[in-house]
Amino acid sequence: MEKIKKYINKVVNKTVRAIIASVSQDTSGEGTPAPIATKTVELARKVGAEGMVLLKNDNQVLPLDKDTVVSVFGRVQQDYFYVGYGSGGDVKVPYKVNLMAGLEGAGIKVNQELAEIYKKWCQDNPVDHGFWGHWPMCYDEMPIKDKDIEDALDKSNTALIVIGRAAGEDRENTLTKGSYYLTDEEHRLLKGVTAKFNKTVVLLNIGNIMDMSWIDKYNISSLLIVWQGGMESGNSIADILSGKETPSGKLTDTIAKCYQDYPSGADFGGKLFNNYVEDIYVGYRYFRTFAKDKVLYPFGYGLSYTDFNIEATHTNISASSINIKVKVTNIGSYKGKEIVQVYYSPPQGKLGKPVLSLAVFAKTKCLEPNQAQELDISYSIADMASYDDNGSTGYKSAYVLEKGIYSILYGNSIDNLSKCCEYIQDNTAITKQLEEVSAVQPECIFNRLVAITQGDTIVPKYKSVPARSVSLKGKISNNLPSEIPLTKDKGIKLADVKSGKASMQDFVAQLSLDELEALTRGDYIMGSSLGAKGNAGVFGGVLASLREKGIPPITTTDGPSGIRLAACSSLLPNGTGLASSWNTALITEVYQHIAQEMIERGSNVLLAPGMNIHRNVLCGRNFEYFSEDPLVSGVIASAVVQGLQSQGVSACPKHFACNNQEKRRIFNDSRLSERALREIYLKGFEICIRESNPQNIMTSYNKINGVWGHYKYDLCTTILRGEWGYKGNVITDWWMRSAKSPEFPMLQNQAYRIRAQVDVLMPGGKRVGKKRPDGTLLKSLGKDGGITLGEIQRSAINILNFALISNAME
Ligand code: BGC
Repeated sequence: MEKIKKYINKVVNKTVRAIIASVSQDTSGEGTPAPIATKTVELARKVGAEGMVLLKNDNQVLPLDKDTVVSVFGRVQQDYFYVGYGSGGDVKVPYKVNLMAGLEGAGIKVNQELAEIYKKWCQDNPVDHGFWGHWPMCYDEMPIKDKDIEDALDKSNTALIVIGRAAGEDRENTLTKGSYYLTDEEHRLLKGVTAKFNKTVVLLNIGNIMDMSWIDKYNISSLLIVWQGGMESGNSIADILSGKETPSGKLTDTIAKCYQDYPSGADFGGKLFNNYVEDIYVGYRYFRTFAKDKVLYPFGYGLSYTDFNIEATHTNISASSINIKVKVTNIGSYKGKEIVQVYYSPPQGKLGKPVLSLAVFAKTKCLEPNQAQELDISYSIADMASYDDNGSTGYKSAYVLEKGIYSILYGNSIDNLSKCCEYIQDNTAITKQLEEVSAVQPECIFNRLVAITQGDTIVPKYKSVPARSVSLKGKISNNLPSEIPLTKDKGIKLADVKSGKASMQDFVAQLSLDELEALTRGDYIMGSSLGAKGNAGVFGGVLASLREKGIPPITTTDGPSGIRLAACSSLLPNGTGLASSWNTALITEVYQHIAQEMIERGSNVLLAPGMNIHRNVLCGRNFEYFSEDPLVSGVIASAVVQGLQSQGVSACPKHFACNNQEKRRIFNDSRLSERALREIYLKGFEICIRESNPQNIMTSYNKINGVWGHYKYDLCTTILRGEWGYKGNVITDWWMRSAKSPEFPMLQNQAYRIRAQVDVLMPGGKRVGKKRPDGTLLKSLGKDGGITLGEIQRSAINILNFALISNAME
């Protein structure tokens, strides 16, 4: 019976894979060999190790003594999780180092007999990777015999247990055994091994945070999150276990004692919508304000093999910024790096605020014992302002610094802080007057969490979220761009614009309506013949006549953990793993090398970084994203973008915005207050744009307060281009939902999208069916209330401005 079931599964998987390959990229088979630079390998190994987070290390069991023989338990030692499933990690990697190979390479002594038992069992019970959206969440664990544990104890005194979890796009992790929770077999393994061994090290090979409440149930000495470390996984782990590298990663998320403690726990996974009831109180902002005792491991936390003394030696508060000099001294006996985090604690004022928010962070270089480094850290006072979306401060739709004392604290985790100074704001003041954008639709109002001060305590209350009060129709109608009269072909080439011989206006004036239509959508399919084999899609010169005018085909590839092409490419650690290094310089260097691979393989745009906020631990794509905190997300994303773009290729941060759930991601509506939108979910993008000027941005699949990301004028025009001054190109996430504009019923699909300044539909055809435009862009052109030529040309200019600086032009 079992055999028949397996056979049927195999056939079903094969068929479904073939169907998927026919409408998407074909990702089956080995990759085409392509060189990987030694330096890229070195960097992947280094950043993998640097992102690992040591959460427990009783009696300094780690690093392992040179003579220690370790007994390694858990099938993941062979069948390792190198990255998550889906577009984000689907790289044709030339080789992968699993845990056992890593240990062996580093000369760490392992109990070979036990290793053989696992090896054989894994061979006899191979993993089945399933197919898109139906990948395994974990692999079946080998049932361990008591006798095997006893035998292992005879040969070694230290056990290493590795537990692995998958995560993937287009589906959620679940509150079940084998996903968020341990399986019964894993419990049995932990119980059996820790009952016998005095020294047990647990490695978590995960992309998403999982339940860790079992940590105190068993006699576990050390707990190390090793994430999904890409092709160099095993080597990175060996470097940490052997002490070649000292752990210096810190959590970019709070680990709660149990799932129900997370503030979004009850408002996640909705079929049609989720109300973001926790509002701005995401992650540590919630726990530190309302539920400090529900935290198992706090945000910013991570142990080292050595100890540091951290001391603020100087603070200076100027009219606009706060500057702190922090001296970090290694007072232990191992070399190591430390991350200094600066938080502010604002007055509660009229708005109510998180008790602590991260203001800035910096990482030291590797310090030898007794060595010190002074970090010079600054941030802008205006960054401590809160957004008033209901007018309670008297300044509606503005960032406001409420009067009172802002305490500035520094340390090496949110739970280990010292105060260094106070900033006093005498009067409540506006730092930025903005306008109401994307508030909740009146018919969708819900109650959101607010902080109310009662005496000395802050208590949680729920109050109605402000409803939308402005008309989008009037705003759009009053801001339509003027059109450039069409001239027909005058022989001007895009290179003439680049060299300054002709203006962009004159170039665009020559483009016919058909050319404009083609420019604002990609080639019809993924794996376009106009780009490198296995590409995600091509846009720009998708017609011969456009190419004749010098517009190059621009090739996009996923991202973020490497280049997804037919050619082999480097596989990096997953996003959370990278971010947990808090090492922006290293991440930039890593992506500089990925950029070189892109150049060699013919990719112009990496569809990366993924930078949505970790709103809920179950989100299937958290592994690609960085953090629950917008500052960490924005700063790490900037490091990625800078790395790529410094080499001439381009980045495409995604998914703009609020793609915080994978289940029914193309139907789901993220309903949230304007304050939460601005302070939490857009903040990272804002930082990324300000600091690194990405040349492309990808919208999200989901709706945001009732409107799909790819139709969202409020986000893609008012905020992105208006408030933030973004000059680049905006593309859809792959394909889009059909809809009519509620404000302008004449506009459907492509016209509705172009009005929002979502410049390119990717790919340009329907997912299944005819390979031709859907005809909706030009249908309403010239009609009352229809799309205007000026709007289509405006998007064409956004795309061409990017083409001008893209390496595709070369
Ligand atoms: C994902 C994007 C990805 C795109 C192209 C979509 O399903 O959401 O992140 O870049 O596919 O592969």
